[in-house]
Amino acid sequence: MKDKIKVCLIGCGRAGMIHAKSYSRYVKNAELIAICDPDEENLKAAQEEVEVQNIYTDYKEVMKNKDIDAVIVVTPTKFHHQIVIAAANAGKHVFCEKPMAINEEECDDMIRVCKEKGVKLQLGFMRRFDKNFQKGKAVIDSGDIGEVTLLKSNTHGPSEPKAWMFDVRSSYGPIGEVNSHDFDTLRWYAGCEVKKIHAIGHNFRSPEVKEQYPEYYDTCVVLLEFKNGIVGTISGAQYVKYGYDARAEILGTKGLVKVGTQKADDVEVITEQQKNISDSVNSWRSLFADAYVSEADSFIECILNDGEPEVTGYDGKMALVLVHAGLKSILEKRPVEISGH
Ligand SMILES: NC(=O)c1ccc[n+]([C@@H]2O[C@H](COP(=O)([O-])OP(=O)(O)OC[C@H]3O[C@@H](n4cnc5c(N)ncnc54)[C@H](O)[C@@H]3O)[C@@H](O)[C@H]2O)c1
Repeated sequence: MKDKIKVCLIGCGRAGMIHAKSYSRYVKNAELIAICDPDEENLKAAQEEVEVQNIYTDYKEVMKNKDIDAVIVVTPTKFHHQIVIAAANAGKHVFCEKPMAINEEECDDMIRVCKEKGVKLQLGFMRRFDKNFQKGKAVIDSGDIGEVTLLKSNTHGPSEPKAWMFDVRSSYGPIGEVNSHDFDTLRWYAGCEVKKIHAIGHNFRSPEVKEQYPEYYDTCVVLLEFKNGIVGTISGAQYVKYGYDARAEILGTKGLVKVGTQKADDVEVITEQQKNISDSVNSWRSLFADAYVSEADSFIECILNDGEPEVTGYDGKMALVLVHAGLKSILEKRPVEISGH
């Protein structure tokens, strides 16, 4: 058995560099030996952050390097399918960021080829590795709050939408960009698939694009009914400016669990004007810094011990099914049944 898994990062952008740092600094049984990005500037910036032996501008070249055991796919979503299939065909284990792909057919293909080639496929839902979100799950499993009845998950992101996000038929809007994490968390907490979804969305913060993009929404609420009867809500918003806000709530028949906080630390500053000020979390990068490292550790251990990934291709596909159904519900202004899963 190998003692270290040799890894290549494919896609050296915002999220990619988080993984680059995890694999090069914190994951003891992995070695980041290569990076790949067609953008020379991003590649150069990445080289300044991490030291690697191999630099690629074309992912197809990565697949020819027999020393690479696993790839971390962090490109724009539309490239995930082709890169994951190429990696699996080259016998490389795959970690793939969310959203898994553009459509369900691509997800099925990725799951099938990884299985046929005997390589691991893990998806990037890092909340499952966050100690607060994990404690929520542990309380559910312990039975301490009785039967789960109502689940809530909230993600509000601070960033101004990029131009490509306004066309929600291709970007999905916040329900895809921000809330795919909430769909995964609630499926995980409910231990069950969703039966019906109803979502409503409106544009409050970008009135200047209303005429050109009448379907764009920056705020949404999603109602979910699970097959086991649990009900759930998701609140989603982008461009909220006040910080990155990811929290969940689990209401059981015998108690309540509140997961997460908007506070960056436990310090409050109270002034003579009777103002109470505390710093708020500004980014998913800081909020989930430890979770990204645990996620990477888990992927490497799963390869070394020939285990099952904690977040599977099927989890990636089901989050995408819910994103699609949620957007359909927003656009058609009606509840949507989730069939066939
Ligand atoms: N898990 C999370 O919390 C999280 C957070 C942010 C982004 N993401 C996901 O990560 C992915 C990347 O998002 P991002 O925000 O880092 O985007 P980004 O635009 O910052 O970075 C993408 C990088 O991929 C490179 N790239 C483009 N085509 C490529 C190709 N064919 N081969 C190799 N590299 C290529 C780009 O040049 C760029 O450097 C998306 O799927 C996104 O949804 C996940």
